[in-house]
Amino acid sequence: MTDFPRFPPGFVFGAATASYQIEGAAREDGRGPSIWDTYSHTPGRVANGDTGDTACDHYHRYREDVALLRELGVDSYRFSIAWPRIVPAGSGAVNPKGLDFYARLVDELLAAGIEPAATLYHWDLPQALEDRGGWRVRETAERFAEYTAVVAEHLGDRVPRWITLNEPWCSAFLGYSVGRHAPGAREGRGALAAAHHLLVGHGLAVQALRAAGVREAGITLNLDRNLPATGSAADRAAVVRADTQHNLVWTEPLLAGRYPDTEEETWGELISGQDFRRDGDLALIGQPLDFLGINYYRPIVVADAPHREADPARRTATDNRYAEVRLEGVRHTAMEWPVVPDTFTDLLVALKKRYGDALPPIHITENGSAEHDEPSADGTVHDRDRVAYLRDHLTALKTALDAGVDVRGYYVWSLLDNFEWAFGYGKRFGIVRVDYDTLRRTPKDSYHWYRALIAAQRQ
Ligand code: FCB
Repeated sequence: MTDFPRFPPGFVFGAATASYQIEGAAREDGRGPSIWDTYSHTPGRVANGDTGDTACDHYHRYREDVALLRELGVDSYRFSIAWPRIVPAGSGAVNPKGLDFYARLVDELLAAGIEPAATLYHWDLPQALEDRGGWRVRETAERFAEYTAVVAEHLGDRVPRWITLNEPWCSAFLGYSVGRHAPGAREGRGALAAAHHLLVGHGLAVQALRAAGVREAGITLNLDRNLPATGSAADRAAVVRADTQHNLVWTEPLLAGRYPDTEEETWGELISGQDFRRDGDLALIGQPLDFLGINYYRPIVVADAPHREADPARRTATDNRYAEVRLEGVRHTAMEWPVVPDTFTDLLVALKKRYGDALPPIHITENGSAEHDEPSADGTVHDRDRVAYLRDHLTALKTALDAGVDVRGYYVWSLLDNFEWAFGYGKRFGIVRVDYDTLRRTPKDSYHWYRALIAAQRQ
């Protein structure tokens, strides 16, 4: 037991999931279609043709999943609310059955002594809003605030921790520039407009959460630790562009009340003269937060490179004159992500150095790894690599705390194996195995390890 890192009293241990990845019941009880239903049902978009139609069937099995959380001993559970269950057409009529589902889940959690932490947007945009422009248009931010107000009015008194957006980088750039996430677009200005409107939506949602009197409001970013491939000036300049695209585009408006001063060198004419920003937006976006959520998985190594697209008019927002380089000499997970736990410490320490007292308390809202799990005949999985990953990242996190970074909680990704977006069910991040034929859940060794780590904190 002595080799577990020890965290301060009151530190929150949790586990995380997201609606489209686990719920299933895609057409039940009045849920409307989301962009991920459309995307996953489009041939060629998701590996193996997988969809979230059934997923882990959490919609019907949430009691069993809450029992797994109780047995695990977590303080908190982070889940997301499916906007198309609450407002099926994106605007207009509210679906009481959608609200009821989350009310039942929250009651079940509270009865088990687990604090709910709800994410309002983990990528399942109502398709009707995408049909009107999606995050490219400001109207979507306004609809998001209305949906937030409805949810907060119903659940605000029982859910202490609220996350407006999960990883807006993925929504804006994987969704509207790389095209690897729904809605699968490959655009320049459309993606930059999406990034801005997501931030506006966040600001409006924070106002709605405050009006409902919730205890804590924050946002979750997937901040990246970008490392130069070599010490050359060109590669170091490439890191600045990667940092701007991945990190500064979010942290500067959220924490410093300004747009990144490196945006011109990153986006050139794509960003100049843009018309989607309005006076007052920075004040809206930069409202004080009770916490910043950070999801962290791996470092990214970047090298200077030419534009992928020679014609400026056809450039996407992620064509920023750098290329990702494979990091040699370290283990890679089943996602082919390099495992370098020290970079987790470095990211947090650098963030504290850059923003100082403007940095709110942090919750690590996701961290974990997909591994090549090999189940035994009885379904158990001896996932030694995942245990090592979690142990080393929790140790790196503790080092950041010792260096003075105010981190209040850690949520493992994920409670269950689930629908890993464009990778479908082939990539398994769970500490609990899900057999997709029988939907049977079996805790892996990493579940037992995490349970022991949590228990050891309380001795
Ligand atoms: C994050 C997502 C989460 C999950 C993990 C592996 O980017 O927030 O839904 O897919 O990656």
